[in-house]
Amino acid sequence: MTKAIRFSRTGGPEVLEFLDMDTREPGPGEIRVSNRAIGLNYIEIYFRSGVYPVPGLPSGLGTEGAGVVDAVGEGVTGFAVGDRVAYAQAPLGSYAEQHVLPADKAIQLPDAVDFETAAATMLKGLTVQYLLRQTWPVKAGETILFHAAAGGVGLIACQWARALGAKLIGTVSGPEKAKLALDHGAWATINYKEENIVERVRELTGGDMVPVVYDSVGKDTWETSLDCLQKRGLMVSFGNTTGPVSGVNIGILNQKGSLFVTRPSLAGYADTRPRFEAMCGELFEMLASGDITADINQRFPLADAARAHEALASGQTTGSTVLLP
Ligand SMILES: NC(=O)c1ccc[n+]([C@@H]2O[C@H](COP(=O)([O-])OP(=O)(O)OC[C@H]3O[C@@H](n4cnc5c(N)ncnc54)[C@H](OP(=O)(O)O)[C@@H]3O)[C@@H](O)[C@H]2O)c1
Repeated sequence: MTKAIRFSRTGGPEVLEFLDMDTREPGPGEIRVSNRAIGLNYIEIYFRSGVYPVPGLPSGLGTEGAGVVDAVGEGVTGFAVGDRVAYAQAPLGSYAEQHVLPADKAIQLPDAVDFETAAATMLKGLTVQYLLRQTWPVKAGETILFHAAAGGVGLIACQWARALGAKLIGTVSGPEKAKLALDHGAWATINYKEENIVERVRELTGGDMVPVVYDSVGKDTWETSLDCLQKRGLMVSFGNTTGPVSGVNIGILNQKGSLFVTRPSLAGYADTRPRFEAMCGELFEMLASGDITADINQRFPLADAARAHEALASGQTTGSTVLLP
């Protein structure tokens, strides 16, 4: 038997149950990982609440974790029992003591990266890799705008931007979060509860505005973000924290300066094994060199996943959160 978080209907955090489940043997091409740490990500709130559909109910939750391989299915090469691994983008169900997943979603962990760091940074760090290095390859000296800069993805983005020599302007909801973002390499912050984002970006850039905005807030900041862009700038809309952006009249991109917009996902960038490995390689180098640290500011027992969801959804968390089996 193994313990796992499951839900049989969508809704608030209260739908999450901590249950005994039968241990499953890995099938062909699969491995079973005994989790040592599990990453918490905003996307799980979308699955739990029904914003994103799940393949079926009852369902497990979570796609990310790190631990030790304890069983290997037929035909698997490159992994053996006892290997230290991390994974992201696995089928839902990583909120569990053990998770069975396709071996091609896992990666061997270098010694320099511990389980909690891996669980806290795989999904968020790979996201920052594709955002800052692929969607819009950020250059030294460039000024960029990044929303939710003190969050899990945000603090990694602050550090990665600093390593690239870029000036990241981060939005935050208060002074403590501003300090955290600045301590992690943000060049400037905007407290959106008290300041006008567009006016502050104008001031900070001497009227130039920015070539790219990374926006995971969604509905509430869509137009504000477009207004922060230079002509022909790129809006990277990569999350729905306040709800999805919908009903957009494409003419708005013309009116606001021949803008570009993209709605990317990690799955769309880490879509082949060579791409996934190259992205992990770059992330692990950033972690090993100390350019990026995992800021695990909340740890919850696996059984308390509902409490962890409440904290993340209400903006109470900073940096990353892990669940511990
Ligand atoms: N497309 C992709 O590939 C991809 C991959 C990973 C994550 N994401 C997205 O990136 C975003 C960040 O994910 P994360 O896991 O790192 O979460 P997070 O940033 O740690 O948490 C969300 C943050 O959003 C901010 N926020 C702004 N308005 C909010 C509101 N009305 N309610 C609650 N929070 C609000 C809060 O910071 P303040 O208090 O400073 O406002 C909060 O801490 C999520 O939208 C997620 O879905 C997308």
